[in-house]
Amino acid sequence: MDAPTPEHELVDPKALAEAFGRRFGRRARVFFAPGRVNLIGAHLDYNGGPVLPLGVGRGTYVAVAPSGDGRCRLASRDLPGEFELDPSGRGEAEALGWAAYPVGVWKEMRSRGYEVGGFDLLVEGDLPRGGGLSSSASLEVATGTALAALFGLELDPVTLAEVGHRAENGFVGVQCGIMDQFASALALEGHALHLDCRTRSWRHVPLGAALEILILDSGKPRELVDSEFNRRVDQCREALGRLRRVRPGPEHLAGFTLAEVEAARAELGDLLFRRARHVVTEVARTELAVRALEAGDLALFGRLVRDSHESSARDYEVSCEELDHLVAKVCEVDGVYGARLTGAGFGGCVVALQRPGALGGEAREDLARTYRETFGRELRILRLEPGKAPRELPLR
Ligand code: GLA
Repeated sequence: MDAPTPEHELVDPKALAEAFGRRFGRRARVFFAPGRVNLIGAHLDYNGGPVLPLGVGRGTYVAVAPSGDGRCRLASRDLPGEFELDPSGRGEAEALGWAAYPVGVWKEMRSRGYEVGGFDLLVEGDLPRGGGLSSSASLEVATGTALAALFGLELDPVTLAEVGHRAENGFVGVQCGIMDQFASALALEGHALHLDCRTRSWRHVPLGAALEILILDSGKPRELVDSEFNRRVDQCREALGRLRRVRPGPEHLAGFTLAEVEAARAELGDLLFRRARHVVTEVARTELAVRALEAGDLALFGRLVRDSHESSARDYEVSCEELDHLVAKVCEVDGVYGARLTGAGFGGCVVALQRPGALGGEAREDLARTYRETFGRELRILRLEPGKAPRELPLR
């Protein structure tokens, strides 16, 4: 396979289609779905709370064509391994590596009765690798969008998100919430998505031109993310069980108040108390932040985002030294409203919100230099365009 796009450069859909032609000997169509950053609402989706993510201008690109023989062949320009499935779709998720995501989508569509045949697929992405910007959800949504178009099916964005989420929970085996797939499938240019993960009701919130979104890629690999993530899910389930002994009503942790969590401190014990406190205070911060954003109060919005980071670090314990350092330092820069870790945490990227152009010149160099001197790692800073819907890309 010829050389993929270097990391942090944007994928060229035409070059991807040409690589597909060389690999599979046929013409491809190319589809894109965005990665996401979550502005606030950390670890609330699987706790039934509100989140405020947005789709970004970077994501996953798939070049696809029907295979014609019922088989599926999957290759990537930037991930190892090539995979082939017979028309029955036999193949266990573990043996499939990254291909479990597109294969999971294909299987989920078929199990819902959609007539999807075999396909060949070549994938490439331009999100920072392992950065917590949801490359997996964007691969699922790109595959779903592509298969729907290839086989003449109508799938609305919510169904597309649900198919991707089922593929990841059921087939791949990660207990993630619904936020990532919804953020990718429902991305809208210039808007964030206010999603209630309990009722699944949602609406788009305009971001306005005064807010610029930066990604600070710490270069710190996200260690233990799967095991620690699943442990947080279990701890929340345990905390919910104990709180429900006091008040049986709510079915999610997000349904309790801070007063109730504080009153149950002894029953919860220190660790579960802090996990629950993060969840209920984050619900309140998120609702307030949405109102602040709509009112154009970016200073308050940024402060709440920063508080979200503190709570994620202190009570939920999903941060690390590198991310804490970056959040603290970037928030000292004039014109930066706030910053927090993105995704599950444990390494990866920080999202920073700024007045356009605030982190420039000297401030930017200072940040990178201090980071290098403290951690011996290179900091990469990317500006993200907000909101790009999943779509087919023109090839000329
Ligand atoms: C990961 C999961 C999401 C969400 C975030 C934390 O990205 O995939 O479902 O739980 O972590 O907010």
